[in-house]
Amino acid sequence: MVKAVVIRQTGGPEVLQYTDITVGAPGPGEIKLRQTAIGVNFIDTYHRTGLYPVAKNAEGFFVPGLEGVGTVSAVGAGVTSVKVGDRVAYGNGPIGGYAEERLIPAEKVVKVPPQLKDEQVAGMMLRGLTVWYLVRTLHQLKAGETVLFHAAAGGVGLIFCQWARSIGATVIGTVGSEDKAKLAKAAGCTHTILYKSEDWVKKVRELTGGKGVSVVYDGVGKDTFMGSLDCLAPRGIMVTFGNSSGPSPAIEPALLAAKGSIFLTRPRLADYVSDPKDYAQACAELFDVVVKGVVKIDTVSSYGLAQAAHAHSDLEGRTTTGSTVLVV
Ligand SMILES: NC(=O)c1ccc[n+]([C@@H]2O[C@H](COP(=O)([O-])OP(=O)(O)OC[C@H]3O[C@@H](n4cnc5c(N)ncnc54)[C@H](OP(=O)(O)O)[C@@H]3O)[C@@H](O)[C@H]2O)c1
Repeated sequence: MVKAVVIRQTGGPEVLQYTDITVGAPGPGEIKLRQTAIGVNFIDTYHRTGLYPVAKNAEGFFVPGLEGVGTVSAVGAGVTSVKVGDRVAYGNGPIGGYAEERLIPAEKVVKVPPQLKDEQVAGMMLRGLTVWYLVRTLHQLKAGETVLFHAAAGGVGLIFCQWARSIGATVIGTVGSEDKAKLAKAAGCTHTILYKSEDWVKKVRELTGGKGVSVVYDGVGKDTFMGSLDCLAPRGIMVTFGNSSGPSPAIEPALLAAKGSIFLTRPRLADYVSDPKDYAQACAELFDVVVKGVVKIDTVSSYGLAQAAHAHSDLEGRTTTGSTVLVV
């Protein structure tokens, strides 16, 4: 038996139960991973509340979590890419992360550069891979471009600001407090806007000389979606990639024409790294920027595995900055 956090029914943070589970032997193509740190991402809260439904196992529960790092403790038949004792990480599921030990397909894990600490790795895989596709694949972010990023001091936000700075882009970042503004600025956010108290749409227009931005990266959703459309330059791209304030509203396609022939996309990381070659390339580029110090993973809120409910409350309560991890 190993310790794990399970969900038997959807609901608030209190449905996260710290308990014992049995982890069997790895099947063909699988490995068993003894985890040292586990990422807590906003998507885990959507799984917990049922916003994104997750199937339960035969015992009536599921283990949340899509990201972690640890040491291979056993390998199944046919696995040649890693061996027992290797230090590996994953950042694109499958679900089942909140546990001391888990089974995972070998193709989902990558070897980790020795320079990186466990908490950094658990805090950077899913969020860093997300930033990779946001700046490299979905849209090739360029030097001199000005973009808007909501919740710039969050986990994805701080990585995005640093990566965008290294490209030479100007980032306008919205934040929930003065402290978060300082953190985002230190990470390379050029301008910050306190979106709870300022007219942020007007401010974005002012900061861009009335033109608007080429891309809005909106992981906040309900509270910012409509305003975000008004921040775009003609033919700009609206990237609605999350719902920390609730799901974005439905809109008529004609609205995209009225807002300046803008593009709307609702991407998921899974669809950008589903090809193993893309996943390997994304991980390699992410490790490269972190090992070189271009992107620092130094703002990490850590909790014990048994404190997963506390971690969820803090994440949803907007008290965290940077990445959130569970340390085993
Ligand atoms: N589609 C994808 O591929 C993908 C992949 C990874 C993450 N995401 C999305 O990216 C977003 C950021 O993820 P993350 O894990 O790094 O989280 P995070 O940014 O660390 O936390 C969410 C932040 O959203 C802001 N926020 C605004 N309104 C909120 C509300 N009503 N309740 C809670 N938070 C609110 C808060 O920052 P302020 O206090 O500064 O407002 C909060 O800190 C999430 O929406 C997540 O689902 C999407």
